[in-house]
Amino acid sequence: MGQSLYIETYGCQMNVNDSELVASILTDAGYTLCQSAQDADIVLLNTCAIRDNAETRILGRLAHFRDLRATQTPHLTIGVLGCMASRLKGELLSPRVGANLVVGPDSYRELPRLLARAQNAVAIRLSDRETYQGIAPLRYATNGVSAFVSIMRGCDNHCTFCVVPFTRGTERSRDPLSILQEVEVLRDTGYREVTLLGQNVDSYRWSMGAEGDLPFAGLLERVARQAPGMRIRFSTSYPNDLTEAVLHTMAQYGNICPHIHLPVQSGSDRMLRAMRRKYTRAEYLQQVARIRAIIPTVAITTDIIAGFCGEQKVDHQATLSLMREVGYDAAFMFKYSDRPGTYAHNRLPDDVPEEVKTQRLAEIIELQNELSLQSNMHDVGREFEVLVEGDSKRSAEDACGRTGQNKMVVFKKQQSEPGQYAHVRIVSCTSQTLLGELV
Ligand code: SAH
Ligand code: F3S
Repeated sequence: MGQSLYIETYGCQMNVNDSELVASILTDAGYTLCQSAQDADIVLLNTCAIRDNAETRILGRLAHFRDLRATQTPHLTIGVLGCMASRLKGELLSPRVGANLVVGPDSYRELPRLLARAQNAVAIRLSDRETYQGIAPLRYATNGVSAFVSIMRGCDNHCTFCVVPFTRGTERSRDPLSILQEVEVLRDTGYREVTLLGQNVDSYRWSMGAEGDLPFAGLLERVARQAPGMRIRFSTSYPNDLTEAVLHTMAQYGNICPHIHLPVQSGSDRMLRAMRRKYTRAEYLQQVARIRAIIPTVAITTDIIAGFCGEQKVDHQATLSLMREVGYDAAFMFKYSDRPGTYAHNRLPDDVPEEVKTQRLAEIIELQNELSLQSNMHDVGREFEVLVEGDSKRSAEDACGRTGQNKMVVFKKQQSEPGQYAHVRIVSCTSQTLLGELV
């Protein structure tokens, strides 16, 4: 048997999918996946650099593996993959951190060669072409129901706060034939849900020769037709790039879930400009209205940053009022974290005091809890098709699964099995979960 490999994944869904590519590349090269770091010859951490606290946590984990190597497993190889590899490069090899390998998001094909050489190494060059064409992700940590499929890599937007364009490189789309093939394999192995991933899915584009360009709406339609029994989701939509064609495709195909993740970041025009987001508050609200007109049952979720450079109380109030106006179904909410290398880091003072950021974030979270509760209460008494994912966390008597709107539902499971659709009536809720009964 080959050397054993343990992979730990942090951050976004794209990283989850990248770890599956890495697992595929390395098992093909003869390595064996194992379930715990204790048994591993090689530990790979697929990392996130989006905020400082993500990096701090991962550095702590690296210190743990470095100690493990020092005290128990001297032959252990520690590799750092993903966005921290891109960002921190050779620094990660220093004895203080203790990594042996540093491999960026576009260099995973080099892993077998680098591991075989058994020398410390850094491979972080970004590519404008790599889409891991021809590599079938190994779904090693799956629930067997739901899977991610990357349709593009990188990002060409330059939001001033964001490190992603620097760590993941320029945007490139993936061949639709290989995307459709991957979906077909998932369909044929019993998966019931696929999420198409990209930093900005609406800039997906593939030249089909004489047929012209295939935009995201066209890809979405092909995927929906390819797997009529599967739910199709996608993430993320950049607010003013989301096209009407995508919305009409969603409305037309019952298997495309009525959920749009539409990161707003701030409700203040002044902040949006400083963030170099390409829309105003009014344009964003217009987009929300258009979405709801075309897909009345839609859920809209968002990302919000509290305390960006120069944010005043009025800007913060504008974020709160926008949240109310939209009535988000859910949100991911963050304190602004200054990232070296970004435009904001170089040019805009990170001048909102930490305790003000904390206070504003708390207000944003409190408001969102209220809005999520309202949204959930609206569902009480209604019936939904729920895709069962497994047992609920609290009890093996209960199943949990999601509505098309991506809300978690818990109900007495009776005969429901993971991967089945259950018809559930909602009887009560919290701000986080719907509670239902089978009908
Ligand atoms: N287009 C991406 C965004 C990736 S980052 C996507 O597909 O989701 C996810 C979210 O992290 C962003 O929407 C933003 O709200 C948040 N974020 C990014 N950089 C940040 C920073 N420097 N500080 C705090 N939050 C940040
Ligand atoms: Fe980051 Fe903006 Fe792209 S948030 S990932 S630069 S769309």
